[in-house]
Formats: sequence, C-alpha cells, structure tokens
Amino acid sequence: MCFHYEGGELFAEGVSLQQIAKQVGTPFYCYSTQKLSQNFNAYRNALSDLNGTVCYSIKANPNLSVVAAIARLGGGADVVSGGELYVALKAGIPADKIVFSGVGKTAEELTEAVRLGILQINAESAAEVEMINQIAMAQGKKANVALRVNPDVDALTHVKITTGTKENKFGVPWQEAHELYLAASKMPGIRIAGIAVHIGSQLLDLEPFRLAFTKIASMVRALENDGIIIENVDLGGGMGINYNVELPPTCEDYAQIVRETLGDMRKHIIVEPGRSVVGNAGILVTEVICAKSNGEKNFIIVDAGMNDLVRPALYDAWHTILPVSKQGIAPIIADIVGPICESGDVFAHERIIEPVQAGGLLAIMCAGAYGAAMSSIYNFRPLVPEVMVNGEEFAVVRKRTTYEEMLSGHVIAPWL
Ligand code: LLP
Repeated sequence: MCFHYEGGELFAEGVSLQQIAKQVGTPFYCYSTQKLSQNFNAYRNALSDLNGTVCYSIKANPNLSVVAAIARLGGGADVVSGGELYVALKAGIPADKIVFSGVGKTAEELTEAVRLGILQINAESAAEVEMINQIAMAQGKKANVALRVNPDVDALTHVKITTGTKENKFGVPWQEAHELYLAASKMPGIRIAGIAVHIGSQLLDLEPFRLAFTKIASMVRALENDGIIIENVDLGGGMGINYNVELPPTCEDYAQIVRETLGDMRKHIIVEPGRSVVGNAGILVTEVICAKSNGEKNFIIVDAGMNDLVRPALYDAWHTILPVSKQGIAPIIADIVGPICESGDVFAHERIIEPVQAGGLLAIMCAGAYGAAMSSIYNFRPLVPEVMVNGEEFAVVRKRTTYEEMLSGHVIAPWL
C-alpha cells in the first residue's frame, strides 16, 4: 500500500505526511516511487511478449526524478515539446527510446529531434513531413518518421481529452494517410519508421482501442502491400484510472486487445501511457486555512488552489480528498475550495468529509498526473514543492519557487 493509514495517520509508503509537511511546508505534491514502478512494470510485463516499449508520456508529469525513475526502469519517453525532450535526455532516457508527438512542432524542435536521431517523429500533416524532410536533408540525414493517423474513433471520454475523431485537430486524416506515406517514402530526408495513433485520455472502455487498433492493422497491411515497411506501431496513451468509482481495464486486458488486433504482425509496439503510470502515484497535500459557513453551505478553505491543481476547475474532475489525520468526528457536507480569486477554484463540491480545523491537513488523491505538470503561478503564487518517497526515505525533488525566482525574468521597461 503506497498511500495508507497507520493509526489514523496518512502515510506515503513508510513516511508520515505530517512529517513531510513539517519539513517542507504546504501545499506540496508527494510521489511514491514504489507505486510509479509498479504501474510502469505492469505495462512492461503485460507487453513483454509483444516486443513492446513503454514510452512514458512526459506531459503527465515532467518532474526530473519521476522521469529518472522511468529511465532507471528501462522506459522510453513520449515528448511533445523541445522542453520535454530536454527533460527526457537529462533524466537519462536514451534518444533511441524517445518518440516526439504533437500537432505543432516548430522547426527548432524538429531540428533537435533529427540531430538526436530519436526513435521516431510522429508527423501530423503533409506540411510537417515536408518540413522534416528539409531539416533532415540540411543535416545530411534521414529522419525516422511515423504518421500519426486520425482513425475517426470516439474514445468515449471527456470532450476536452478526445483526440481521435474528425472533429479534432490531431493527426493526418484517415483517407489521406496512405497517399502521404507513399509521398514521404520517396523523400530523401525521410525514413518511414512506423505509424502512430492516439484517440484520447482517461479511457475506461477497451472497445475504442480495439476499433482504432483494428483500423491501424488494416492500414499497416495496405501500406506493406505497397512496399512500405512499418516497424513501429505506436498506440498512443494508456488507460484511464480510478479517481472515484471508475473500473479501468488492467494492463493485461489492454495487452490482450493489442495481441488480438496486431499480434500476428510481430511489430515493435510502442505505448505512451502517462496518467496510468503516475496518476495514483501522486497526491497533493494542503493545509486548511479556515472553515466557514453561510448558514446554507460549509466551506473548507485550503492553501492549495486551482493554480496548483487545475483538473477540477478545468474538467469538473473528481479527486478523492482525505484527512491526513483522522479524528473520527462525524462528517459534514462541505465545498473544499482554494484561495484563488475565481469561483471556479473549487476542488470538491458538497463533499462528505470529516471536518478538519484550521491547520489540519488534507490529501487530494490521484494528483500525480496532470497536477504539477499543469500548475501555474496564477495569483503570483509560487510553484509548490514536489517530494518523492521511497520506503522510509523522502527527498524534495523540486523545491518551492521563491518570489525572487518568480520575478527573475521580469524587467521594468526602460521608460518607466
Ligand atoms: N500520447 C499522446 C499523443 C497524448 O496526446 C497523450 C495525452 C498521451 C500519450 C498520454 O495519455 P494518458 O496515458 O495520460 O491518457 N490534462 C488532461 C489530460 C490530457 C491528455 C493529453 N494527451 C487531464 O488532466 O485529464
């Protein structure tokens, strides 16, 4: 058990969260190395007979220690910006295990990716293929390219994280992909390395995956009939996780779908899970500033805000919230809210929760993915520390930013 109670106190592995809070202050993110490893290994083991590479999707959590943990486990990375590419390399992920996705890569980013000779660049348009070709030729190289195709499959998830339908900006349209492959295969700067698809995030149903992978298999067959050899089949992000009462499929179930749809082709399978690797391996710990009631509603005001964890405000996402020290008091119904000057700064509406007094701590669970990664300094609030736990030990793996650091790039205009 990575986050669990011992005598009414919430622990991360062998370390009390109260103890961490005393040392680093609040709010802070806390990650469990054990959970991270378990989640990563579940994918790796499930795909072991499929010649699979797990390319952790750095966007979910780019903390250097999180990525380094993946590197130590032999993982690769899925990056979507020059910054993520930089983090992946710094963390020790070899270039030949890095895939570069994204709908709008700049010439500068592509130049670096081509120079490094990464595993593959997932191109999303004819214009991008042409740009990669030019860049590679200028370097006297052939770039490893896959086309990210848009299979027009509905992932049955939240509209803001659906990516594989015609409505979405992502990928090469299904009907145009074959022709673009033929054109790309003749370009001197391009080596066709594979094919890629990503239909969305927080998928709880395997059927959309099955549909998309079946379509990919048919495209691979059609391409190979035309002499275009596909080595890598990149299946995009991983499965959803349980935030509340969801029942996500297991890695075994997922691997079975891959086996059934693509197994006979014996391709190198790439998966890019983010949320399901780091989501439940992280929490956000926050201190109650005060509680108040307006006669109709109770509010618990905490020191973390939507700038630290935007998911509830942005997606109406549910995160379980637990008291760090259980008092055994009868629960109340309260809104748990941050201090930001926006009505949307609410972590939980009408939540049944044990009342926690000012100074008490709450843990916002399953915040390891798209938590710190999406944080900002809105309201000019410092980025909060990130702490990693391993058994009985813990380390601050990103310190709290200071006001001085927050102002470090600012300059007063000379005319002021
Ligand atoms: N690969 C590609 C090309 C992606 O666009 C994504 C996620 C992933 C992999 C990783 O997907 P995952 O395994 O994490 O589902 N901020 C949102 C999620 C955005 C997902 C964007 N793309 C949230 O907090 O729910």
